[in-house]
Amino acid sequence: MSARAFFECQTNRGRRKEASPSEITKNSGVKEVKREWSFNPAHLSAAVITLVVSFAPLTAAGVDADAAESLARRESCLKCHGIDKNKDGPAYKEVAAKYKGKPDAEEHLIEHVKSGKSVQMRSGEWEDHRIIKTRDEAAIRNLVQWILSLE
Ligand code: HEC
Repeated sequence: MSARAFFECQTNRGRRKEASPSEITKNSGVKEVKREWSFNPAHLSAAVITLVVSFAPLTAAGVDADAAESLARRESCLKCHGIDKNKDGPAYKEVAAKYKGKPDAEEHLIEHVKSGKSVQMRSGEWEDHRIIKTRDEAAIRNLVQWILSLE
């Protein structure tokens, strides 16, 4: 059963409950619906499996990790940021942890890498943050999504 069929199943089950007994006897079509969607635990677990399987690749496919990492390397971001090591700047995993669950994180970090605002190095000195050179908005978004996806 597909995820869509699963939801339709749920909707039909809900509707069927609302129908009064007289409506059910009057309408011969209802009998067929009843048989088709009668509760079967095997169907339900198949639907749950379908849901899990069909949503998992969507999330993974959202970020191109290889493209993101090679852009970070080309732009010298990795001179100051390790994936899990603090250098002059925070490790990307730390950045991800800091912004976890914050809905505007993506837009905030895109702005951060494009604006060059003043940041404090580990040495304590203040410097303007590196402005990303590429003008490829999709690549910048992919890089930020990759950073935020690190765990
Ligand atoms: C010269 C060192 C240096 C380079 C190069 C550098 N950064 Fe940073 N970056 C920092 C420092 C220092 C911070 C910490 C800012 C703070 O917490 O105040 C930082 C912070 C960040 C943050 C987190 C911002 C936040 O709001 O917490 C992101 C994301 C980031 N940098 C991405 C990048 C990207 C992408 C590049 C490459 C285009 C890059 N950085 C290049 C030093 C650098």
